[in-house]
Amino acid sequence: MATKEPVRIAPAEGKLGVLLPGLGAVSTTFIAGVEAVKAGVAAPIGSLTQLATVRLGKRNEGRTPLIKDFVPLAALADLEFAAWDIYEDNAYQAARKAAVLDPAMLERVRAPLEQIHPMEAVFDRNYVRRINGPNVKEARTKLDRAEMLMEDIRRFRDRSKAARCVMVWCGSTEVFNRPAPVHQTLKAFEAGLRANDPEIAPSQIYAYAALKMGIPYANGAPNLSVDTPALLELARDANLPVCGKDFKTGQTLMKTMIAPGLKARMLGMSGWFSTNILGNRDGEVLDDPGSFKSKEETKLSVLDQILQPDLYPQLYGKLYHSVRINYYPPRGDAKEGWDNIDIFGWLGYPMQIKVNFLCRDSILAAPLVLDLVLFLDLAHRAGMRGIQEWLSFYFKAPMHAPGIYPEHDIFIQLMKLKNTLRWMRGEDLITHLGLEYYD
Ligand SMILES: NC(=O)c1ccc[n+]([C@@H]2O[C@H](COP(=O)([O-])OP(=O)(O)OC[C@H]3O[C@@H](n4cnc5c(N)ncnc54)[C@H](O)[C@@H]3O)[C@@H](O)[C@H]2O)c1
Repeated sequence: MATKEPVRIAPAEGKLGVLLPGLGAVSTTFIAGVEAVKAGVAAPIGSLTQLATVRLGKRNEGRTPLIKDFVPLAALADLEFAAWDIYEDNAYQAARKAAVLDPAMLERVRAPLEQIHPMEAVFDRNYVRRINGPNVKEARTKLDRAEMLMEDIRRFRDRSKAARCVMVWCGSTEVFNRPAPVHQTLKAFEAGLRANDPEIAPSQIYAYAALKMGIPYANGAPNLSVDTPALLELARDANLPVCGKDFKTGQTLMKTMIAPGLKARMLGMSGWFSTNILGNRDGEVLDDPGSFKSKEETKLSVLDQILQPDLYPQLYGKLYHSVRINYYPPRGDAKEGWDNIDIFGWLGYPMQIKVNFLCRDSILAAPLVLDLVLFLDLAHRAGMRGIQEWLSFYFKAPMHAPGIYPEHDIFIQLMKLKNTLRWMRGEDLITHLGLEYYD
């Protein structure tokens, strides 16, 4: 039973529009997966919102509802999809090209996928250099492009009758850039949109359009996107939740599972070398050094925060950490990653761990998109605004308040996520103290 005042959460009534800039491997695997689950031909493996439970109260109370029964989430049947891409392929054709799901699976969801035609993208080759396509908006200024996106959203809302929307960036990784003066305030950003400031990337124009339309925004890629003071100001003023950056899948997922365990046992680490081969369009974009730099930044930041070399110089002060991504077309989306971890134990004796992960990138990413859509919509209905740190669980480089470090340890992230759900419903937070069982 709830012991505190629950947060007021508006009911999940009506359709929820899912707006996806980028109709590539991740988006199509996500949409096809939702349609397959709705049709009863597949299970939503990897999704907390669909499968996980949350323990409430004491361990002897036996209260462990499914998360989806505990908090009011939108139903899968209520999701309506729309996307933008620089290519004209509909979602079925794009999914066939991405070749993540086999043709037999795609045939079963062909009809709903064929209904999704990408809207013209806001694109700039200075930000994504390796690809080019015809389905692109032409306009005089970046502000005009933002307004065209808002018009797309209005039309989608009218057509689909969506009561609410959420936007998740599933577009390519843009080149690395740091916040510039134009990103410091909303006023400067809007002036920059009018003046075509080259520091404003397409993903920032999508994020701006979403927030102006009252739509929460999540960033699945490592580029800045919504992570600037200007757009965070807009999110706060408009009472909108946002989160990012870069879906935590593959090698980084492994890293944030393994590193906390080694550190928990106070085992030292002298090196972590990660390399992988990847042959999908994402791999092709990341073959460009500018886009790779964005990825490298998010991938490298993880170990430092988990291992805290400042607090444990003897164990982690000399860690050599390196991450490589190699574009290798024959593998398509079936990535292969190798990790070599040099650790040391009692009296400094060295040991090695090798991880060889034959993963499927988009199979790992798709359930994250679903959870982010449903949780961001929940946060919005619960009146939560600005950075949603409790959704760090899903990201390689979680957005965080200035002055604090991001939390990377996946087990702390999960505890934080579930405690946030308990807090929303007025349930006791779980501290794992447990002395009362022995009184
Ligand atoms: N697959 C994963 O496990 C994973 C993990 C973490 C992050 N990501 C990130 O998610 C994003 C999507 O990954 P993916 O594997 O689907 O890549 P993808 O290349 O298959 O799809 C991205 C799509 O975005 C389109 N695009 C690029 N710029 C656009 C723009 N300005 N507007 C609209 N569309 C645009 C491209 O044409 C492409 O079709 C990438 O940034 C990737 O780095 C993926």
